[in-house]
Amino acid sequence: MSSILITGGTIISSDGEQVADVLIEDSVITSIGQGVSGADAVIEADGKLLLPGLIDCHVHFREPGYEYKSTMASEAASALAGGVTTVCEMPNTNPPTCTIDGLKRKVEIAKSLPSNFQIKFFYGITQTEHLEELNRLWTDAELEELKSWVCGVKLYFDHSTGDQGIDQGILDQVFAACSDLQIPIAAHCEDPQLNAQAMSGLDSFDHVSKHSLSRPPESEAKAIAQALELTRKHRAQFHVAHLSTGDGLELVRQAKSEGLNVTCEVAPHHLFLSVEDYDRLGGYGKMNPPLRTPDHCEALWNGIKDGTVDCIATDHAPHTEEEKKVADPAKIPCGVPGVETMLPLMLTRLSPADVLRLCHTNPNRIYALHKSEIQEHVPADLIILDPDKEVTITASVLHSAVGWTPYEGMVG
Ligand code: DOR
Ligand code: ZN
Repeated sequence: MSSILITGGTIISSDGEQVADVLIEDSVITSIGQGVSGADAVIEADGKLLLPGLIDCHVHFREPGYEYKSTMASEAASALAGGVTTVCEMPNTNPPTCTIDGLKRKVEIAKSLPSNFQIKFFYGITQTEHLEELNRLWTDAELEELKSWVCGVKLYFDHSTGDQGIDQGILDQVFAACSDLQIPIAAHCEDPQLNAQAMSGLDSFDHVSKHSLSRPPESEAKAIAQALELTRKHRAQFHVAHLSTGDGLELVRQAKSEGLNVTCEVAPHHLFLSVEDYDRLGGYGKMNPPLRTPDHCEALWNGIKDGTVDCIATDHAPHTEEEKKVADPAKIPCGVPGVETMLPLMLTRLSPADVLRLCHTNPNRIYALHKSEIQEHVPADLIILDPDKEVTITASVLHSAVGWTPYEGMVG
């Protein structure tokens, strides 16, 4: 048996804070209290904070199919370095996670990830056949183990990286089925018609900032309104991915007060970056939904404060430096890495208790991930934080395969 004792740290839990020693034996927390002793190794954590390993419920790790950008192993290392021990990974790989075989392929790769890291997969649906396979996955007893790797269904209302825009004609059917099967739906909410209209209204795409004009705030609000209508009709469980606008947030606020089973997440880039950063960031500032004006950032911060925002999730989306530096702004792929920088950034404006709620308690509940806080008789999945340590974010020390960050030079 191997044992580790962490002494004097402050445990952050949803019941409050407690200074205590934590004994871990064979990777299980066996004792929490004062003056606990008897371990092979001791970690002194006086003045440090102990939190459960964080959950990032929205990442793209690119494998299989885009290993030249990153792999599950490289991005798992990046997550772990950022205090994130559980992630929910998106289906826009190649093959996409829209079939049972596609899912099996990912699960095989995931089995060789480090044992202190957990990954769950979203199942994507763009056509009826994918929905038929989901039905089989959910009801065939022989697929029970495979099904346990799935955290929810992901829908794209409009195309983004990977071209997974859903056939609008099957949306009603998908909401009905997921409600029946009790599967949470997460969606990328942007309206294809409004986006197409905005794009065709541009006189040119001569600067990367045009990206924000080509995917306007109204587009997000319209898609969210449509999704909420379906949520109401089918009593589904619905989660808005990377909410980026004050307008969208207001719709979620209203839907919650109406009692719909609706939640939402916000990405750090929509909180810490805005259209004002395009000149500095160039292609590094291009993602979907796009950067917004600062009034939207402010609205999102208010949504965090009043509890409308349930989760912080990074939409970690690695693309190579070369791809992000393509000269034609229209051809730069959308997405930024973020899984490793979420924690230091969030702690500049939020308390550790807020981080626990937004990056553990809420995603854990929404996707039924069965993770525990720091308590006796549960697996030791925890992180130790130094609240006084300031870090300057710089790509050279980050672990993602892509080697760049939109937060270069920011202090966390
Ligand atoms: O910016 C984005 N990047 N938004 C998405 O919807 C997809 C993601 C990616 O996979 O690159
Ligand atoms: Zn995404």
